[in-house]
Amino acid sequence: MIQDDPANTSNARGAFAAAARHAAAYRRDVAAADRTPTASYAEMLAAFAGPVPETGSDGAQIIEDLVARATPGIRASTGPRFFGWVIGNSHPTGVAADWLTAAWGQNAGNLIAAPAASAVEAVAAEWLLDLLGLPAAASVGFVTGATVANTVCLAAARSEVLRRVGWDVEADGLFGAPPITVLIGEDAHATVFSGLKYLGLGARRVVTVASDASGRMRADAFEAAIQATSGPVIAIAQAGQINTGACDPFAEIAPIARAAGAWLHVDGAFGLWAQASRRYTDRTIGIELADSWGTDGHKWLQTPYDCGYAIVRDAEAHRRAMTIAASYLPPPEGAERDPSAYVLELSRRARGFATWAMIRQFGREGIAAMIDRHCDIARHMGETLAQHPGISLVAPVDLNQFMLRFGEGEAGDAQTLATVRRIQEEAIAFIGSASWRGRWVMRVSVTSAATTMEHAETTIAAILQAWKAVVAGT
Ligand SMILES: Cc1ncc(COP(=O)(O)O)c(C=O)c1O
Repeated sequence: MIQDDPANTSNARGAFAAAARHAAAYRRDVAAADRTPTASYAEMLAAFAGPVPETGSDGAQIIEDLVARATPGIRASTGPRFFGWVIGNSHPTGVAADWLTAAWGQNAGNLIAAPAASAVEAVAAEWLLDLLGLPAAASVGFVTGATVANTVCLAAARSEVLRRVGWDVEADGLFGAPPITVLIGEDAHATVFSGLKYLGLGARRVVTVASDASGRMRADAFEAAIQATSGPVIAIAQAGQINTGACDPFAEIAPIARAAGAWLHVDGAFGLWAQASRRYTDRTIGIELADSWGTDGHKWLQTPYDCGYAIVRDAEAHRRAMTIAASYLPPPEGAERDPSAYVLELSRRARGFATWAMIRQFGREGIAAMIDRHCDIARHMGETLAQHPGISLVAPVDLNQFMLRFGEGEAGDAQTLATVRRIQEEAIAFIGSASWRGRWVMRVSVTSAATTMEHAETTIAAILQAWKAVVAGT
């Protein structure tokens, strides 16, 4: 019988070695992988099912068994021809740093418990602000992703706009509080509404601001909406619309928000990274004028899941909304950054290690080059495909996301979905669909560090082939 002995070094060595061997083999082969996953969810359930094990097993054996069972159900989303959703590459360097994060078992919630994890976060926070062109004094919370980053930022916003009218929301909650008006673009991401829901601001109780054909909030509509408000206001803008990549006109809306005394938050899950590019920074001009920004590491920085950043100009508001205090938790020394003061959780993964590793992996130049390349690839793919009969771009390619329609009018819905289905069946590339303004579209995201122009060309050919087959009715 295997003893539950964490100090069993041969067990640790075996388990770690097996994981490293399988991970390296997987990442070597994933570029050529097609038709993944090969097993359905039901088959995966059957693969893992069984009674609770009565006895323990050897670590290396467990890892071997895990790999054997899971492999058929792994989608090659780290592969170079994966264009579905906005999924980064989980870069091997970030993965390795993340393994060590787990092996070290650091609880990043406390500076005394985890000095290295806390320090690496402090440094990575400075690097992120520098790369993203945001105020150096802003505070950064290391969270699971943009959904939580937006929620944390909106908690800081809620705290500050109510403090300004004499209400302490942390102490007294929202019952009886002055009402907050939330302005949000009509093409905002669904997850922002989750944040509003969690914070008691109401997913439905918002003022929706009209956007243009690319999903970009209209500055004139924003101005009219904000002028019609009274009392505390939180305005939510977006960098990188999930289907079009469009960024709101920050240079126009930020001064309007400022003049109205509103807190301006930007959901920049991926689009905020245009700030770190060389040639696409004009998309986000004025974004640094906002009050808070939510973004992801696991999208354009290519860290492994899960990793996001909640960034707030007013660090005091950020801390007020998030700080956890208890006598058994040693207070931070002097002015040191307390890592738990910027996030929802106390105990959590030390995401700073992978962030630090990934920024070192690429460097400023490498990050800029990758973002430029992805945007170039998206534009090339979209514009090339739109030259072919029956294929049209739904909106100009602005960043790294674009949408295509196949066929005309009502019939185009079925033809578009048939083309997407065909691509997924052929499995040369993975691409998904979405509904946009009541019509079905093929949506393409270019976010993986592994993707090159060569992969784009292969994918263009595959899309044309699929469309040809749909037209031919085969
Ligand atoms: C614009 C935008 N906001 C928020 C999110 C949510 O991010 P996450 O899934 O990392 O929580 C996404 C995800 O794609 C997004 O594109």
